[in-house]
Amino acid sequence: MSTNQDAQNFDRQMMQRCLELARRALGQTAPNPLVGCVIVRDGEIVGEGFHPRAGEPHAEVFALRDAGDRARGATVYVSLEPCNHYGRTPPCSEALIAAGVAKVVVGFVDPDARVSGGGIDRLRSAGIEVVVGVEEEDCRQVNEAFIYRSLHQRPFGILKYAMTLDGKIATTTGHSSWVTSEAARREVHLLRSACDAVIVGGNTVRQDNPHLTSHRVGSHNPLRVVMSRSLELPERARLWDLDEAATLVLTEAGSHPEVQKRLLNRGVEVVELDPLTPAKAMEYFYERQFLSVLWECGGTLGARAIADGAVQKILAFIAPKIIGGRLAPSPVGDLGLTQMDRALTLERVQWRSVGSDCVLEGYLNP
Ligand SMILES: NC(=O)c1ccc[n+]([C@@H]2O[C@H](COP(=O)([O-])OP(=O)(O)OC[C@H]3O[C@@H](n4cnc5c(N)ncnc54)[C@H](OP(=O)(O)O)[C@@H]3O)[C@@H](O)[C@H]2O)c1
Ligand SMILES: [Zn+2]
Repeated sequence: MSTNQDAQNFDRQMMQRCLELARRALGQTAPNPLVGCVIVRDGEIVGEGFHPRAGEPHAEVFALRDAGDRARGATVYVSLEPCNHYGRTPPCSEALIAAGVAKVVVGFVDPDARVSGGGIDRLRSAGIEVVVGVEEEDCRQVNEAFIYRSLHQRPFGILKYAMTLDGKIATTTGHSSWVTSEAARREVHLLRSACDAVIVGGNTVRQDNPHLTSHRVGSHNPLRVVMSRSLELPERARLWDLDEAATLVLTEAGSHPEVQKRLLNRGVEVVELDPLTPAKAMEYFYERQFLSVLWECGGTLGARAIADGAVQKILAFIAPKIIGGRLAPSPVGDLGLTQMDRALTLERVQWRSVGSDCVLEGYLNP
C-alpha cells in the first residue's frame, strides 16, 4: 500500500515538473497547447522538454532528444496526450514507439474530438503501458484556453478589471491610476504575458493612455488592441509607441480613412470589422490563431463583450478603498437585466488576496 502510494506521489511530482516546463512557453504557443515532458529511468530524470512555440517540435521530441538512448525502457510523463497525426511535425506517438519507451503517463486526453484518444490507442497497440489522468485538474487548468478553443472554435476570453470596494473603476472625472496596489498590478502584467491579445475601447485610450505591456515580468507581450468606431484617438499615445509591443486598431468598415492612414504610417495595424463587435473580434482572433484574449476595457465595451459571449472568465481585483461618485464608472455597463434573479452567476469561484487587495476569479456559463 505504501509503495503504491509512493509511486503515485512520484507520478504526481513528475507531472508537476511537466507543468513547470510547459509554463516556460506561457503566451508563446498559440494556437498550440502548453506541454511539458519528463523522461524517467530507474527513478531518475534522464530527459526533459517543452513545446516552445507552434511550428517547433513537440515537448516529447525535445525530451527524447535530451534522453537519447536512455529513453529505452523508460517512463515518459507528458501533460497532454501525445499527438498521433502529421501536423507541422510527425506524430509523437511514433517517436515514442521508435524510442522504445516502456510506459507513458498522460495528464489529460486531447480535447479535440477528431484526435482525442488516438495517441493513447496507438501507444497501447504498440504494447506500451499508458496511464491517463495524473494531476489532470492542474494540467487542464494550465491549458484552459487551449481546451476552450478546441471545443468552441473561439479564443478564450478573460475580463479583468480593478475596482474600489464601492464598485468603481475610475473617479467621476475618469481618473483611474491606480485603483489597486503594486502587487496586484504586477499580477496583471504577468497575466498579459500569458495572453495573445489585450483589448481596450477607444475611451480607455483617451482617458488612461495605457501601456498594456507585461512590463518585462514575462518575456512575451500580447498584441495590444483598441476597438474604436469613431477613431477619435489621440495623436500621441503610448500604444502608438511600437518599440515594446505591436498595436492593432479594430474599427468599422470605411471609418475615417485619413486616420487609418495616419495610424498605418506609424506602423500600427488597422483592421476593419463588419460589424465592429466583440463577437466579430473573437472570430477574427480565432483566425489569427489566438488562444486567449484579455479584455481590459471599461464597462461599455466590457458589457458588450459579456453579452456577445466573448468572456469566459472574470478576474476582479478589489481594492479596500472607497471613492464614491454617483456617476463614477463601474466595471460592467448595461446588460439589459432588470431582475436580480436574472444576474449572471459565476461558477468555480475562488477568492484570494494579493498585496492589500482581494482577487475574485470565476467562470461565466459557456
Ligand atoms: N479600473 C479598471 O480596471 C479600468 C479598466 C479600463 C478602463 N477603466 C476606466 O473606464 C473608463 C472608460 O470606460 P468606457 O466604458 O467608456 O471605456 P471602454 O469600454 O474601454 O471603451 C468604450 C469604447 O469602445 C469602443 N467600441 C468599439 N466597439 C464597440 C462596441 N461594439 N460596443 C461598445 N463600444 C465599442 C468605442 O470607442 P470610440 O468611442 O473610440 O468609438 C467606445 O466608446 C475610463 O475612465 C477608464 O479609466 C478602468
Ligand atoms: Zn506531438
